[in-house]
Amino acid sequence: MADTTVMDKLVSLCKRRGFVFQSSEIYGGLGSVWDYGPLGVELKRNVKDRWWRAMVHERDDIEGLDAAILMHPKVWEASGHVSGFTDPLVDCRQCKNRFRADDPRLKGTPGAPDAQCPVCGSRGTLTEPRLFNLMFKTFMGPVEEQAAVIYLRPETAQGIYVNYLNVLQGSRQRVPFGIAQIGKAFRNEITPGNFIFRTREFEQMEMQFFVKPGTDAEWFERWREWRMAWHHSLGLAPEKLRWHEHGPTELAHYARAAYDIEYEFPFGWNEIEGVHNRGDFDLGRHQEHSGKKIEYFDQPANERYLPFIVETSAGADRVTLTVLVDAYREEQVEGETRVVLGFHPALAPIKAAVLPLVKKDGMPEVATRVYDDLRKRFPCFYDDSGAIGRRYRRMDEAGTPFCITIDGDTLTAHTVTVRHRDSMQQDRVAIDQLQRHLEAALTA
Ligand code: GAP
Repeated sequence: MADTTVMDKLVSLCKRRGFVFQSSEIYGGLGSVWDYGPLGVELKRNVKDRWWRAMVHERDDIEGLDAAILMHPKVWEASGHVSGFTDPLVDCRQCKNRFRADDPRLKGTPGAPDAQCPVCGSRGTLTEPRLFNLMFKTFMGPVEEQAAVIYLRPETAQGIYVNYLNVLQGSRQRVPFGIAQIGKAFRNEITPGNFIFRTREFEQMEMQFFVKPGTDAEWFERWREWRMAWHHSLGLAPEKLRWHEHGPTELAHYARAAYDIEYEFPFGWNEIEGVHNRGDFDLGRHQEHSGKKIEYFDQPANERYLPFIVETSAGADRVTLTVLVDAYREEQVEGETRVVLGFHPALAPIKAAVLPLVKKDGMPEVATRVYDDLRKRFPCFYDDSGAIGRRYRRMDEAGTPFCITIDGDTLTAHTVTVRHRDSMQQDRVAIDQLQRHLEAALTA
């Protein structure tokens, strides 16, 4: 099976089952912007909840933050995004297509007479590369003038930097400590694509860890280890995860050292998270541009300094795509293809489906009672339509780890069957033990 086929099948499954839809589809869609449907929103939310738990709730040295998307325009001058967050672009004067200057399809040197457009084939029509800023601009207030320009944030990190002293004061933290945030970011990407991998509107899960200068290399290594362990904890295949170290030409303008966590997608190895040693670049720039002293005062040592920052930055949408790709499998069962999303139970959008075998003989009544009981504890689904085999397959495609069937024996023995998505094995469980049984299995 060709790798692109897997992506095509996954995209189609995501639409059919309500994970992800193209934005504004009835108008022909909006380029590389996606909406999450009922199952997708649960899946992505589980990814984010798991990150928040690992980064904020389970640690006492990290605080949470939710900064606004719109920030003072000077923030982006200080951060280097106004001048440095650019891609060189080439236009074809003939067909009006636009390309990144490093697009391997371009033949010859853009701007030269022999350079050839990869779309219309014209020669000498490609412009010289021009820098294009990836930030989305908008205007604050009623007048659309240069002075009113503000940007949609291209990363959530800056909201953390400009708030670090506020958080310190309110939380009684001391360096080393971190601030974590989940939020939307926007980039006018030139070559978006691969479904929700590279989009123009996306969510980041970022954590900035403030450390004493000189201890940054050590913290950087610790954070590398912890972040890779987190991805393993999602149940992702370990052999599909690897590190990529940024060479000197790849390093972002703020980074002293950077490693990406990469996953082997059907379209190749690609970054899902970056771990960066940002030194004092950001705080130094904000101190300079705002004219405000934002040094940390280490009281016991009677020392003032700008902390160095170790950043961990993951895309919520990219991790969600990784979870989907990693979970997707097809199996042959009794001559039929079974499509399964084998999610880690903690990530599964629906934890259990309740299925009365038939719509009579008192089964729906018992099934409704079981369903009402269980859904107080976790997301459940009730399905009484169609043959039981088809209902199981529908739940396999949704990635539901357990199907609970109410059958004839339920009415006499007060037991149900619990079918396991992966093994398809069925256990007989007493109704009064069901909740405990499922909770144990979901947290195992
Ligand atoms: N604050 C540092 C920063 O933003 P980055 O490497 O540009 O670093 C971090 O982005 C993560 O954000 C990436 O690893 C990726 O998961 C996610 N990301 C970046 N651009 C994205 C896009 N256009 N679409 C989806 N996710 C994106």
